[in-house]
Amino acid sequence: MPYLEKSFGIVPLDFVKAGEVSIQVQGLLKTIGFEADLIRRVSVCAYESEMNVVMHGGDGTLMLRVGSDEVVLDVTDDGQGIEDIELALQEGYSTASEEIREMGFGAGMGLPNIKKNADLLEIYSEKGKGTHVRMSFKVKNRKE
Ligand SMILES: Nc1ncnc2c1ncn2[C@@H]1O[C@H](COP(=O)(O)OP(=O)(O)OP(=O)(O)O)[C@@H](O)[C@H]1O
Ligand SMILES: [Mg+2]
Repeated sequence: MPYLEKSFGIVPLDFVKAGEVSIQVQGLLKTIGFEADLIRRVSVCAYESEMNVVMHGGDGTLMLRVGSDEVVLDVTDDGQGIEDIELALQEGYSTASEEIREMGFGAGMGLPNIKKNADLLEIYSEKGKGTHVRMSFKVKNRKE
């Protein structure tokens, strides 16, 4: 059972607010007192999945659940969806527009980075309907 559950809205194409959700997630995990490496890994995944909703998705939500032995992030959006998930997971694959690349995004490294940092990654997506990315992290040694 989660002892902390919090949901955050993500606004597509809002590059002013972009990244704020993952900063809030990081702050909450610090307050709880998790070890630095776990906070780093969850924050990286929160940031990359948040940015994917901003850049490629539709109206979205990040749901953070913290339990005694795991942290789970569920990031959903009702955007265009991912046509080929295997392909999207390849390093360097990106459908980002020229405009987005000019802002420094679109290297095609977000999902591969999530894959490296989460203990478990599940992606569900339907073209034209949206995307659900679930990431989970094992909690090992809690700092007292
Ligand atoms: N929420 C989403 N909705 C629709 N498509 C997505 C979503 N997330 C990822 N994708 C697709 O998967 C591709 C790969 O995503 P990934 O995060 O690896 O790279 P990127 O976002 O293009 O670039 P980077 O993350 O390096 O800035 C994207 O270019 C896009 O086509
Ligand atoms: Mg990305």
